[in-house]
Amino acid sequence: MSILDVYEAVTSRRAVRGFTDKLVPREVLERVLSAAAWSPSGSNLQPWHAYVLTGEPLAELKKRAGKRVATGDTWDEREYDMYPSVLKSPYHERRSAFGQERYGALGISREDWEARQRAASANWDCFGAPAALFCYIDRDLGLPQWSDLGMYLQTVMLLLRAEGLHSCPQMAWSVYRKTVAEVVSPPDGLILFCGMSIGFEDVTMDYIRTGRAPLHETVTFVEG
Ligand SMILES: Cc1cc2nc3c(=O)[nH]c(=O)nc-3n(C[C@H](O)[C@H](O)[C@H](O)COP(=O)(O)O)c2cc1C
Repeated sequence: MSILDVYEAVTSRRAVRGFTDKLVPREVLERVLSAAAWSPSGSNLQPWHAYVLTGEPLAELKKRAGKRVATGDTWDEREYDMYPSVLKSPYHERRSAFGQERYGALGISREDWEARQRAASANWDCFGAPAALFCYIDRDLGLPQWSDLGMYLQTVMLLLRAEGLHSCPQMAWSVYRKTVAEVVSPPDGLILFCGMSIGFEDVTMDYIRTGRAPLHETVTFVEG
């Protein structure tokens, strides 16, 4: 195990969309998730419910989801809105820039909706990853607890970097949440926030690093 500097863990984490089939040992996942349990949460509610899939159950999920894509099955009705229906500035521009970065790297034009959908369908194969985590939250909890989930998931992703692993968080799975539920059998009352592919990066795959807004767009120093 290599212990990364925290800055290095943060800056080397990215949404990796191509993994090798090298297995992720169970003890590594347990080590990461045991440490991630130290993530902060309001009043220490620890509102995350994580399900980790590997091996046959993950293969079954990929197969079932792949079948839904192949038959043009409609998405499950939403349990939460991924984005507002109208994204105002500057979010709209940032999303467009992301689309250009993501699909431009694959040589797909802005207008080629079908090719974009094909590329996006790699979500249902977890981009080839041999492990995946599905993070649920109790339906009764509110916005602050959803933000706790974000902290937990980022902690997981940074710890994965310390283990030489990469990840891709995937809200996309929420549109096939019923298929995920068939495989993980969560108790009633939980909402699937997102999945996360986990594995070793396929370094032969091209990618373009996503950019970030300049600091002054998102941070204001109020100084004396
Ligand atoms: C909550 C969340 C959900 C995401 N869902 C998806 C997804 O479904 N599919 C995907 O390919 N990337 C997904 N991403 C990855 C983002 O596109 C990515 O984090 C963002 O573009 C910044 O790029 P970077 O993570 O490579 O720095 C998601 C990220 C987050 C935080």
